[in-house]
Amino acid sequence: MSTSVEHSPVVQRDDDASIVVRGGGPLSGTVEVPGAKNSVLKLMAATILCDGAFELTNVPDIADVAIMGDLLAAIGVDMVRPAAGEVVLDNTGRITPVAPFELVERIRASINVLGPLLARCGEVRLSMPGGDDFGARPIDMHVAGLEAMGAEFTFADGDLEARADRLHGADITFDFPSVGATENLMTAAVLADGVTTIDNAAREPEIIDLCEFLVAMGARIDGIGTSTLRIEGVTSAELAPVRHRTVPDRIQAATYLAACCVAGGEIDVVGARGDHMAMLLDRFGDMGLELTTSDSGIHVAARGRSRSIDVATLPYPGIATDYKPLIITMLAVADGVGIVTENLYPGRFRYVEELQRLGADVRTSGHHAVVRGVARLSGAPVRAHDIRAGAAMVVAGLAAEGETRISGVHHIDRGYDDLVGRLRSVGAAIDRT
Ligand code: UD1
Repeated sequence: MSTSVEHSPVVQRDDDASIVVRGGGPLSGTVEVPGAKNSVLKLMAATILCDGAFELTNVPDIADVAIMGDLLAAIGVDMVRPAAGEVVLDNTGRITPVAPFELVERIRASINVLGPLLARCGEVRLSMPGGDDFGARPIDMHVAGLEAMGAEFTFADGDLEARADRLHGADITFDFPSVGATENLMTAAVLADGVTTIDNAAREPEIIDLCEFLVAMGARIDGIGTSTLRIEGVTSAELAPVRHRTVPDRIQAATYLAACCVAGGEIDVVGARGDHMAMLLDRFGDMGLELTTSDSGIHVAARGRSRSIDVATLPYPGIATDYKPLIITMLAVADGVGIVTENLYPGRFRYVEELQRLGADVRTSGHHAVVRGVARLSGAPVRAHDIRAGAAMVVAGLAAEGETRISGVHHIDRGYDDLVGRLRSVGAAIDRT
């Protein structure tokens, strides 16, 4: 296998930036929801499967898209942005099945090149992030599934290598509906010899988006949107590039609903898909938010203080773990006591310390958090530890008296397309410095 990788420019992080929130509200007006990070990165990876120029629209302007673009450029798929919200990915057919460490380590979704590269090239070398990260977010289900399809793996010096002359179909049953493993096996199965079934597959809206993209390319997939996917393999020559609109981002949409909840007011979250957020909207209704969904989006009104609820995170259609920092922030200023149970990433409560700095009464024990609502938080300097926690800090700033200064903004930039501008446009007192 060739190990030479042509390096493309690595995206720079805005490490010094901070976001300053000085309360604000009530909110009013319209905010538009961009495409989903957790979909577009997977659509981009799937362009490895066949030659030609793919057009993606409703693409969020976020750092992770740029990083994935650099990763694909190193592999042999060039990305250009002809207009705002659009990218063209040109698969030249000269694919190097090697993913360089400095890009792979920066986004979890880089694992999504594994299945397409192995299926297309019969070999792949992927650098893995350090041991601790690997341990915290394992890829054993990806590996076991690809092994069942005929791949052989070796792990050495932080690199993963896999080979398979041609993958073959297999019957795979997950013990947990992993999003990433479903995507990787599905995209690999598109070019495998024969039929692959994936039982207990994840069925998030972003997975459906990827299925629809693959089917438009010429893939044969049955059971889309269910927990049993059946994929009949084709050859790369039977696939063709397509133009595709990325599904709207339900987590960004939820962020604006949460902002309205704590700041009060009434906004239209345009482009949000209520059907992709049904269970969350039910629970937000239980908290007292007035929500109306339509083809154009979600209208939300927050009148008075919200009520506490108990929530547990689960795979889709359950409440997504990525909503949790937002929910805990909403509960921090709700009336009553709420218990939040994390079922996907036990111990993922690091941002709670930051909320406590703002005066929130949150106690964690194992995979539970008990949140006792207080009337108002009070502003302080806080740090964004990851994308979702960072957005929750911004929402917390809207629930606080005085100034909240959020550092670690590069985390927010990974997944949020102009969070500050969008919140300011609906009346929040927020700036980026
Ligand atoms: C994706 C999302 C992430 C979201 C998560 C769950 C992207 C880029 N990220 O992550 O924002 O929080 O879904 O909705 O789309 N697991 C294993 N072995 C595996 C694979 C997963 O044990 O081989 C475990 C993970 O450690 C975790 C759980 O399964 O505890 C969920 O992981 P998974 O659904 O695979 O999430 P990701 O695809 O990593």
